[in-house]
Amino acid sequence: MDYAILLGDFERHQEVSGWPRQRVIHACLRNAILSGRLGAGTRLLSSRELAAELGAARNTVLYAYDQLMAEGLMEATRRGSVVARLGASANDNEAAPPPVSSLSRRTAALRSLPPAGIIATAFAPGVPALDEFPIQLWRRLIDRAWRRITPAELDYADPAGQPALRQALAEYLCASRGLRCEAGQVVITTSTQASLELCARALADAEQTAWIENPGYSGALAAFRAGQLRTVGINVDAEGLAPTARDWKRAPPRLIYTSPSHQYPTGGVLSLPRRIELLARTREAGALMIEDDYDSEFRHDGPPLPAMQGLEAHAPVIYLGTFSKSMFPGMRTGFMVVPAHLAAPLRAVLARMPNHGRVAEQEALAVFIREGHFMMHLRRMRHLYRERRDALLEAVGREIGSVCTVHGTSTGMHLALQFNDPSWNDAEISARALRHGISAAALSTHASGLRSQHWNGLVLGYSQVPANTVATSVRTLARAFDARNG
Ligand SMILES: Cc1ncc(COP(=O)(O)O)c(C=O)c1O
Repeated sequence: MDYAILLGDFERHQEVSGWPRQRVIHACLRNAILSGRLGAGTRLLSSRELAAELGAARNTVLYAYDQLMAEGLMEATRRGSVVARLGASANDNEAAPPPVSSLSRRTAALRSLPPAGIIATAFAPGVPALDEFPIQLWRRLIDRAWRRITPAELDYADPAGQPALRQALAEYLCASRGLRCEAGQVVITTSTQASLELCARALADAEQTAWIENPGYSGALAAFRAGQLRTVGINVDAEGLAPTARDWKRAPPRLIYTSPSHQYPTGGVLSLPRRIELLARTREAGALMIEDDYDSEFRHDGPPLPAMQGLEAHAPVIYLGTFSKSMFPGMRTGFMVVPAHLAAPLRAVLARMPNHGRVAEQEALAVFIREGHFMMHLRRMRHLYRERRDALLEAVGREIGSVCTVHGTSTGMHLALQFNDPSWNDAEISARALRHGISAAALSTHASGLRSQHWNGLVLGYSQVPANTVATSVRTLARAFDARNG
């Protein structure tokens, strides 16, 4: 019998359900028996063999087997444990497959993307210092918002988001990020991921071309693929997105995704001449640029760089922001700023799209921004992240500086290490580091095109790593560079 299907189920099941292992093993076997995948009389592996196959304790498997015996789905024979012969009534209903028995092809394809970072471990990227968030203050503002809410406000709200929040954001973005916009151009979403999906759906048709940085942000790739766009990876250099004349000619884009303030994952900052040229070419191509400004509030060496959106009066730019980095990811709030001429048509269809709601939270957030708490939190976090970045730079220089080059240190919450020896296998080093308890994503897993450009190295997030623990974690990471350390 092929246990590969069973193992696949087991791992997936455990990931999504969070159940204890014995329950997952029981559920997988039960499903396999009831669906007929494990036919009557099939001999199952002994509990010892299955435990070894799954990397589980023998008792865990025994528990699952006992349950199956108790349910009459399995029986003990001289040949060992076998699948019982079920009466017609046992699996009649379940034997018939449901009419839709698998995910759509475009959604199933998402699984091939790199796995999400392992949260709360040095050096998982993109996780803010969650223990520094002013929870009490936030709770008070949420309470206050709910106390003020009227029954009428419990009705369907503006699908573009609460006017107070859109106004507060427009003011903040113009003053602090150099945007040129009005509240009417702001659309509140549940995340950058949601904004990207909205862009893919509302601003491009299936099979149109979307450029994505290579290496680049897997969330953008996922959104574009789910929208059935044709994705084309465009190489980045030390400054970020660097399309060639051939790229413009061969694969004229409808959408261009870029993270100009701090390219994800390599950390490059797009220079002003490159920004101006990109905007001009985007306009010429009749395309739209999607500017993902996910962590630029944290500029460590100098004032924040203004966003591309504000470089010209009617820039062909959709600006995306998120509170996942500046506040906390569990809030699931992001926003987009669309060109003025697209604001009304988009707002007209937003009610038929899924990314809105949470009136009270949006009101509380508007107050958080208007009363200055947001700026104060950003200032504190900027200071903290700079201190953590400095500690990381020092430790990296000391422990591994001779074997890699550091990129993208001026902004944000992560930096990129590029190995000086291109033959090093970053995926293997990343896997070894994880076995030592360090999460350091391999740069090569962020490749977003067939034309893979050689960025081999690691992404190190530092925002959630206390400065006094950084040196120890980097020493542990350094050990993973040596294959002899398993
Ligand atoms: C490049 C980039 N953009 C945006 C986000 C945030 O996305 P969201 O608002 O969906 O949490 C992340 C988070 O890791 C990111 O790395």
